[in-house]
Amino acid sequence: MINILENISLKHYNTFGIDIKARYFVKVRCIDDLTALLQTKHFQENRRIIIGGGSNLLFRHDFQGIIILVEIKGVHYQGSTQSSTILKVGAGENWNEFVELCVKNRLYGIENLVYIPGKVGAAPVQNIGAYGVEQKDFLHKVEYFDISTGKIVILHQAECKFDYRSSIFKNELEDKAIITNVYYELSREWKPNINYKDIKQELDKFTFVEPDAEYVMNTVKRVRKNKLPAPSDIGNAGSFFKNPVVDEQYFYTLKEKYPDIPYFQLDNQYKIPAAYLIEKCGWKGYRSGNCGVYDHHSLILVNYGNASGEEIFQLSENIRQSVQDEFGILLEREVIVVE
Ligand code: EPU
Repeated sequence: MINILENISLKHYNTFGIDIKARYFVKVRCIDDLTALLQTKHFQENRRIIIGGGSNLLFRHDFQGIIILVEIKGVHYQGSTQSSTILKVGAGENWNEFVELCVKNRLYGIENLVYIPGKVGAAPVQNIGAYGVEQKDFLHKVEYFDISTGKIVILHQAECKFDYRSSIFKNELEDKAIITNVYYELSREWKPNINYKDIKQELDKFTFVEPDAEYVMNTVKRVRKNKLPAPSDIGNAGSFFKNPVVDEQYFYTLKEKYPDIPYFQLDNQYKIPAAYLIEKCGWKGYRSGNCGVYDHHSLILVNYGNASGEEIFQLSENIRQSVQDEFGILLEREVIVVE
């Protein structure tokens, strides 16, 4: 049974905590709900946005369409080989709880992705990643509801076009697919992935033997707590911008002017932390009215209370402009802005 509500505040459905209203709002708990929703004029005649945890969205204004909150639940065992196990996970499951469940059951690979806010269905959309791991490394296949046909479709890992914070669901299939279940293939053999600088440094402080998965997971939690604000404490949507990639020639031009510039080398290109560029422009810890730039990490825009979506958007545009003026780089947003 679906129940389409009207004029609903989205304050508790977006991690920025922006108090805007949606004209229509519906929760779907199973594929039959989606089939029923497809028949309604609310769905057919309006703009639609599918949300999970609302942790990567910035609403600028009240939304005059329909918000579809996917609450498909369940984690189901699909079988094992000697080295791996496949789990089918409902799109509405909480990502962090899923990571903890895997570690508890000695299924390895995604422990570095603990504490990433949001739901499992959103993980493939922007190919979430942290500390040297991306969800694509353990994704087996994705099941989605095709809005134009009302049928269920399966896409295997290689068909999802995963890239840095990107996938087919953010491009060709945008507004065409509703992810219903995600299949992950976890490793049964423990192999730590602890080369990321922050994790290595934190482990080196306390560890003298090879850590187990729970220990690594707890270390990641500590690192995140020190740098990234929990949305339950301060409204935010994680990294607001993507880290830009520049070619070799441009990188060396920048390095001459800024010898301390951090980078990750990728073949012939260089990925530069957007946080560094933003900090160099003087934004770290900046506050204006109800919003600002987090004082422990300059890639995080925060809502200190009652910021409007428009205020946060304007701040982000001012940051983009100043980074472009200083470094000649136009930052691309990671967060999806809903106009
Ligand atoms: N830095 C600064 N100032 C700051 C923070 C960082 O100059 O205020 C510089 C430092 O040199 C630091 C470097 O930026 O070494 C990288 O910082 P960090 O390790 O925090 O990673 P990031 O590149 O800012 C990315 C992801 C995060 C993910 C971390 C860890 C993007 C856009 N963001 O951030 O993902 O947790 O790596 O892997 O790629 C998210 O996507 O929402 C997110 C939080």
